[in-house]
Amino acid sequence: MNRKSIVATIVGSGSTRIPALIGSLINYKDRFPLKKLILFDIDMKRMELMKDYIELTMKKYYPEVELLFTDNEDEAYIGTDFVLCNMRAGNFEMRGFDEKIPLKYDLVGQETCGPGGFAYGMRSIGAMIHMVKKVREYAPEAWILNYTNPAAIVAVALDKVFPEDKRILNICDQPYSMIKSFAKILDVDMYDIEPRYFGLNHFGWFTNLYYTPTGEDLLPRLKDFLMEGHDFKPYNAEQREASWLNTYKNVNKILSFFPDYIPNTYLQYYFFPEEIVKESDPNFTRADEALVGREKQVLDLCQKAKEQQSLENIPLLTGAVHGNMMVEVAESIAYDLKKLFVIITRNEGIISNLPEDAMIEVAGELTKYGVVPYKVGKIGTFYKGLIEGQYAYETLTVEACLEEDYNKALQALTLNRTIVNPVKAKAVLDDLMNANKDYWRLK
Ligand code: NAD
Ligand code: G6P
Ligand code: MN
Repeated sequence: MNRKSIVATIVGSGSTRIPALIGSLINYKDRFPLKKLILFDIDMKRMELMKDYIELTMKKYYPEVELLFTDNEDEAYIGTDFVLCNMRAGNFEMRGFDEKIPLKYDLVGQETCGPGGFAYGMRSIGAMIHMVKKVREYAPEAWILNYTNPAAIVAVALDKVFPEDKRILNICDQPYSMIKSFAKILDVDMYDIEPRYFGLNHFGWFTNLYYTPTGEDLLPRLKDFLMEGHDFKPYNAEQREASWLNTYKNVNKILSFFPDYIPNTYLQYYFFPEEIVKESDPNFTRADEALVGREKQVLDLCQKAKEQQSLENIPLLTGAVHGNMMVEVAESIAYDLKKLFVIITRNEGIISNLPEDAMIEVAGELTKYGVVPYKVGKIGTFYKGLIEGQYAYETLTVEACLEEDYNKALQALTLNRTIVNPVKAKAVLDDLMNANKDYWRLK
């Protein structure tokens, strides 16, 4: 393949997801060739933990790439073509509060949904606006591919603040993960599935799964399989912790009430908030599970590489959906491949009975100009009602943040299906505001 090589910047390079993203960049080097990779994080100490592993890995598998580790944003974006953004404002310490504070009020404790997602969104908005401004100072033409959560809220905020910027794309790997899981169940190649999907990020439904070799829609067959009592399992079930396995299983439960479409796993928090709270351990949430799981595994491996200064008996971390999707998205844009992804984009009539300015999640082709979405048309009243409530919550959250408006924040939380009761909304808001006072304020 003869493709022009790329300069890429990873923002949030201290994330323990980055070694596997590097693994994806290595595996896709023929399809998405790099000439320079800039690893940027505001926390150099955190990046240092993985630096030796990354350097040794790149030297072994991708020596032609120039590497730069930096915590200086004035050198992170010069000459970059793609900014792959993956930051967590407040790190895992704040993720812990996002998940645990709501549980004190018997509310869902989740990093992207409900009160935790609200608090995290309020932190991400400021950091993301700052990042986009910095990128545009040095690289006006670069594509910004953003994973930073809650992607739904970040997408609304960035669209509001940078409405003319056509090179910001917010993405989520959960639909991609689900398609990979569908493909395993159906025993087909995931790249032969053309999905159709509508909703908001972490709040949507698969309506069709076309099998490209024959044109057959596999969704009815998959739905029958799931509704006949087979648990929905992630493609990598053996490596998943209990909480994720339960999350996937709840797709069966949602289908038993609303069998029209296959729901995104995140809808469990909105349909069954009380059950989710009951099943949660307020002293050990997903943040703790991820810390003793992924974080420890990756950091131990990196520490070993650092001590022995070689990769002997150290595997190449790779294969993660997160990294593969990011690189495939970048590849499709860079070389105008028009590949199909489920992506967040401005509605503008795609779903004809939802607001034009809503940031929706739908299937679309990725070209050098950005997303060319597939039209959805009119959606049913039930789905429209659910989405409108959630979109009002997202919009009020963004406005509350930008205007520092307490009343809008309280309205947002009251609209959220995981909360509803204004007494609880106020109590959890005050608590979250106190825990987040270094990040955001409301008047
Ligand atoms: P992590 O806490 O392990 O790492 C995040 C890194 O971001 C840290 O090294 C931190 O120092 C850095 N950081 C914080 N603020 C920053 C800023 N202002 N600028 C640059 N770097 C900054 O996080 P993680 O669990 O790997 O997740 C990273 C992000 O990716 C989160 O926002 C997470 O929610 C998101 N994520 C999204 C998807 C998706 O589907 N959209 C999938 C996976 C992860
Ligand atoms: C999925 C979602 C992401 C979310 C992640 C959390 O990939 O799409 O939005 O950040 O799961 O995973 P974790 O292992 O950190 O709980
Ligand atoms: Mn996501």
